[in-house]
Amino acid sequence: MNFLITIFAKIKKAALACGRAIAALPKAVAISVTVCAVLVLLVVIITYFQQQSLSVTYYELEEEKIENPVRIVFISDLHMREFGAGNSRLIEKIKEQAPDIIAVGGDFCNKTEEYYGTAIEILPKLMQIAPTYYTLGNHELTHQNSAQMVADIAATGVNLLNNQTEEILVNGNKIAVCGLNMFTHVDDGFKDDNYDDFMSFMKDFAAYDSYRLLLCHFPHYSSWYFEKDKFSFDFELMISGHTHGGEIILPFAGGLFAPEQGFFPKYDYGLFNVKNYKMIVSRGLGDSHYMRRVNNPPEIVVVDLK
Ligand SMILES: [Fe+2]
Repeated sequence: MNFLITIFAKIKKAALACGRAIAALPKAVAISVTVCAVLVLLVVIITYFQQQSLSVTYYELEEEKIENPVRIVFISDLHMREFGAGNSRLIEKIKEQAPDIIAVGGDFCNKTEEYYGTAIEILPKLMQIAPTYYTLGNHELTHQNSAQMVADIAATGVNLLNNQTEEILVNGNKIAVCGLNMFTHVDDGFKDDNYDDFMSFMKDFAAYDSYRLLLCHFPHYSSWYFEKDKFSFDFELMISGHTHGGEIILPFAGGLFAPEQGFFPKYDYGLFNVKNYKMIVSRGLGDSHYMRRVNNPPEIVVVDLK
């Protein structure tokens, strides 16, 4: 209680000081400064409440290889956030969607934080709703205890797809679910050591006759690899995270910045038709930086394959 009284006293003191400073300005300047201050305050308040909300984005895709409808819930980039105690609000919202499978797009931890319990504890709760498939993000791969964390993720019993493909049967449809986090580099006259592994892994995935679902944290793999002729592999759908929607979403302009893509990223969030496949990029649920997301509520993605 004393803490709150002190905070309110400090806010009151700061507001009075601002009021006196504004009153000393010429009238036109004082009005402009007041309007700007009110707008900034409004953005801060709206942003705060948006960050506590959970939005659901629905996509419906007509697919030749799908005979009976399949509902996928995709969540990504939790970054240790909690929506309700033990993520109860998030779990409830996912349950409401009645998914056939749940796909986790990685970055559930923060690489800068040693503790990653929140990222692990949610997995058994997801698995109680539907079979859950997990692909790793950069924060899992570069965490200081990465190997232990990956072992802990696998120990929950979740279907961890660490550069692996699993063919599953969902409502009578065969689906090849692939989790890709392998990286390669190829330039004129240079190939890194992973190149052959990357190519043969993707070739094996593309060879499946079933519906091919690529879970890959990194949407920029589209521009880095799959849009290029030498990396041209057939699959139906790629679902990604990583961008956090471009962090700040500007009206009419979209996401502001995404790692590896820079300012005004091509693949910020939403559905994209890329060469011979579709890609959905989720805005994700959290952020590794406090309150950097603006006009960008946390997102659960629901994909209905029909
Ligand atoms: Fe992330």
